[in-house]
Amino acid sequence: MEIKKVGVLGCGLMGSGIAQVAAMAGFDVTSLEVEQKFLDKGFAGIEKSLAKFAEKGTIKETPQAIRARLKGTTKKEDLADCDIIVEAVIENVEEKKKMYSALDAIVKKEAIFASNTSSISITELLTAAKRPERFIGLHFFNPVPLMKLVEVVRTIATADEVYETAYEFGKNLGKVPVRTSDKTGFIVNRLLVPYMLDAIRAYEEGVGSIEDIDQAMKLGCGYPMGPFTLLDFVGLDTTYYITHVMYDEFKERRFASPPLLKRLVMAGWYGRKSGRGFYDYADPANPKPNKL
Ligand code: CAA
Repeated sequence: MEIKKVGVLGCGLMGSGIAQVAAMAGFDVTSLEVEQKFLDKGFAGIEKSLAKFAEKGTIKETPQAIRARLKGTTKKEDLADCDIIVEAVIENVEEKKKMYSALDAIVKKEAIFASNTSSISITELLTAAKRPERFIGLHFFNPVPLMKLVEVVRTIATADEVYETAYEFGKNLGKVPVRTSDKTGFIVNRLLVPYMLDAIRAYEEGVGSIEDIDQAMKLGCGYPMGPFTLLDFVGLDTTYYITHVMYDEFKERRFASPPLLKRLVMAGWYGRKSGRGFYDYADPANPKPNKL
């Protein structure tokens, strides 16, 4: 099966990034949102990112030529002839299922349904549509235009041909696909989440300061960001949500939220996006660790 037309559900941080890389790779893309204002915000981010790439000479086409392959819509019917639908809506099982159920009646039968969820079971999501063999996970990483990886997630119901088509699609997007199966957290979050939670526990136990733990992991391990900078970047609310799904699945302490993470989330300190998390972003170019 050949993929030509891509539908992306949600035009937030991840959805707009996925739409952008698909358009950059030459696909015709339609992004679906509930309101025009969300499309406007997502597309403004895409234009900024494309301008940055153009300035650096990393894209062969003009930003305008890439942008011309991107359409935004608030009508589900406009996705009817897409070959693949990549869903990147809010991490909420019921919201995602509602979306899949509505689109199943509209989008052509041969189309592949993919989810960008980071922790929700793909098998649970596929029950919302009547195409279990054509349902997979495609998990991208933030910031999507820069991060090279995509996890291609197979369920017990996925047809081989569908899986290979999705794997090739990942390559055609300019990403490096890895094969994984529908176990909560897939590969990256299975390893990354306990690492980030351990950093919080180490801080709670007085092993080091927020800044020193970050420096240690950056300079000692060559990671691009220390764990607290990364937690603030991913979003503490998102991480907290993931801990629940992972703890529920495995019942292991390493996936459970440390008390400090819970308190930060309760206080509305979600990290970079809310201006405050482990660091304070009053001056975004010069974040200061909070006293926690
Ligand atoms: N589009 C185009 N250019 C962009 C961009 C975007 N969306 N975002 C950043 N850039 C540019 C910056 O403007 C900057 O350009 P200049 O060099 O001209 O200033 C350049 O890319 C490098 O960015 P920075 O200088 O800000 O910082 P950096 O060198 O540290 O790179 C990074 C940024 C790629 C994000 C790097 O820090 C990194 O790899 N961090 C780790 C990110 C990570 O682990 N992500 C995964 C999170 S987990 C997840 O997403 C999954 C989940 O399920 C929770």
